[in-house]
Parts: sequence; structure tokens; C-alpha cells
Amino acid sequence: MVLDFGDATSTQSVQPQTSFAPPTPAAPMAGQARAAAAAVEHDQGAGVTGLEEINFNASRIKVDDKRIINCRADLNQLVPFKYEWAWQKYLDACANHWMPQEVSMSRDIELWKNPNGLSDDERMIIKRNLGFFSTADSLVANNLVLAIYRHITNPECRQYLLRQAFEEAIHTHAYQYVIESLGLDEGEIFNMYREVPAIHDKDVFELQFTQELSDPNFHTGTEATDRRFLRNLIGYYIIMEGLFFYVGFVQMLSFGRQNKMTGASEQFQYILRDESMHLNFGIDMINQIKVENPHLWTPDFQQEIIDLVKEGVELEYRYAVDTMPRGVLGLNVDMFSEYLHFVANRRLRQIGLPEQFPGAKNPFPWMSEMIDLKKEKNFFETRVIDYQTGGALSWE
Ligand SMILES: [Fe+2]
Ligand SMILES: [Fe+2]
Repeated sequence: MVLDFGDATSTQSVQPQTSFAPPTPAAPMAGQARAAAAAVEHDQGAGVTGLEEINFNASRIKVDDKRIINCRADLNQLVPFKYEWAWQKYLDACANHWMPQEVSMSRDIELWKNPNGLSDDERMIIKRNLGFFSTADSLVANNLVLAIYRHITNPECRQYLLRQAFEEAIHTHAYQYVIESLGLDEGEIFNMYREVPAIHDKDVFELQFTQELSDPNFHTGTEATDRRFLRNLIGYYIIMEGLFFYVGFVQMLSFGRQNKMTGASEQFQYILRDESMHLNFGIDMINQIKVENPHLWTPDFQQEIIDLVKEGVELEYRYAVDTMPRGVLGLNVDMFSEYLHFVANRRLRQIGLPEQFPGAKNPFPWMSEMIDLKKEKNFFETRVIDYQTGGALSWE
């Protein structure tokens, strides 16, 4: 789908340069004209970005001035807080800090290298999940940094986004650490999003949301663009982080429950805990934008979102089939079909939409315990190292 932002040349103008030829004389003029046009549009309803001139002696910020999108109050002052939930989630995320190297991979390496350690189906599940997740977290990070950050006009939400962006980097690090530990073919794993259809299709579905917002001519502030922005948040927080990760989470955590690949499984458990916080932050932000902009939430738009979630369920089901064509680890694809319906119902309810799969039950009730992992005590009883703090630094 191509959006028209009132600039017929915008789609072309944002294509990356493919050669190092110097620009033609006309190019800077076109660039200036575009920038001016964008500035005019920007002034008509979009919020600030934080890059405006510093207004000396301007009046001080009041809590009531703050809004999540299209806010004109100074973005570079974290306080006074309006959205305590955003700040609290930032604090909670920091309290759950972890690093991939804290988790021992020695038992995994031993099992992986043993020709009789795992079945071919089990090995495929691990490789395909590493294939999906190793690039998916980059897609999420790109969306945060290159698409949504500049349109979120609230500093406490931005503070959380910065923390989330670091966590996405840690997740990519974790997958790389597992891939390296097991001695897997990195090219094979990292190229799966271009070579395995079920992975490719989920990523293409997500990338559309990033592409339309990363257009420099895209600004919120009109009904149409505010809806596109909300659609992006739902596409990533609800569908990517809230649905597309869950077949993989169940599969990878199932290994740990059977005392296999416990290191990789533990990494995924930490990641699941982070992701459930990302999801909850996204839900709060989406619902707050709806409260502040009720005109956006029309019946047509609600239907558009319901259709996207249903399409997401289809894509994730195909991923389940593709990672696990035969039942293994006590799991089968029918269970995943039921589970995805259950999860989709829950996600729809969480953003105020009606359930689409009546009566769906959760075949994996143990998943909720996994999300409640406490850092200092986890189910594999590995020890979490302490981080170097200011008191431990040497200044010599
Ligand atoms: Fe992540
Ligand atoms: Fe995430």
C-alpha cells in the first residue's frame, strides 16, 4: 500500500542514493522545497520534535500541556510527569537488566554437538527460531528509532523507548551469542528472513508499517496520518511483539521444560519477560492516544485493525507449521492454532476491540509463569552476576 502525503514525488524522493555521483544542480533546490513543504505541513498540527530553537525565558511546562502525539510543549524536559505508568515501566525495565553472557551455554553446546543429542525436527525448530528472532529484533529497533521516536511527543514515553531500544539490541546480542556458541552457520541463520517464506512474510508484513512512517514527509497532525501512526504502534506492539513472537517463545521454552537446551531457553525466557513489558507499554500508549484522540477510533478504523490482527494470526500459524511440520516436544500445530486464537482475543480486548475467536482456550497455561520470572531466582538456578557499580570502579 502506498500512502499519499500530499507530495506526489515523496515516494521517489526518499529512495536511497545508489551511486556516488554528485547531485545535479536541481537536487538541492528540490530538497529545500521539500523541507519547506514539510515544515508548513508540520506547523499545521504535528507536535514538536525536541530540535526546535531553545526559547529563552519561555513559560514553564504544565502537566496539562503534555500529550503523547502532536504536543507542542518542550520535549527536552522529563518532568513534571504526566504519564506515571511510562516512567514506572522505565524503572521496572532497568531493574530487570540482564546480559546474554550471564547465561552459561556449556550444556547446550554439549547437547548440540552430540549427534544423538537432538532430533532433526528439534534442531530445525531451534535454527528457524534463531533465524526469525535474530533479524526481527533489528526490525523492531529500526521501527523505534527510525519511525516512531520522532513522532512521540512526550519525554517520559521517549525515555522508555530509549530503554526499549537498548533491550532490542541486547536481544539481537543474545541470538548472536547462541548462534556463535553452537557454532551455527551465521549466513544461514541471518539470511532466513530472505530465504524462508514463513519468516519472510511476517517481516514484510511488519516492514510496511516502518516504511510509511520513515518517509521524511510523513507527519502526524492530520486525522489520516494520526491513524497511520496508531496503526504502526498496533502493528509492532500488538502484532509483532504480542503475537509474532509467541509461537517461538512457546517452542524455545518447551526445550527448557524438558531439560534440553537450557541456556538458549533461559535466554528466551529473559527476552519473553522484556517483550511482555514492551507489549504492556505499547498497550498503555495506544490506549492513551485513543483517550486523547477519540475521533481516530472510527468503526472503519477498528475494522482495519481487526483485519490486520486476523492476518497476523494466519501468518503466525504458517510460521508454526513451517518451524514444526510434525509434532515434537509435546507440541503440535493444532495447539498453536488454538493458542494464537487465544492470544489474539486477548490482544484485541487489551486495546478495546471485540474478540474474534470465541471460546479459544490457552493450551499453554505455564507460559504465564514464565513471564513472571524474577531476575535473582530463575527456574534453571543459574546465578546472575552483579554489575559493576560506581562504588566498584577504580580511578587509578
Ligand atoms: Fe526484542
Ligand atoms: Fe521488543
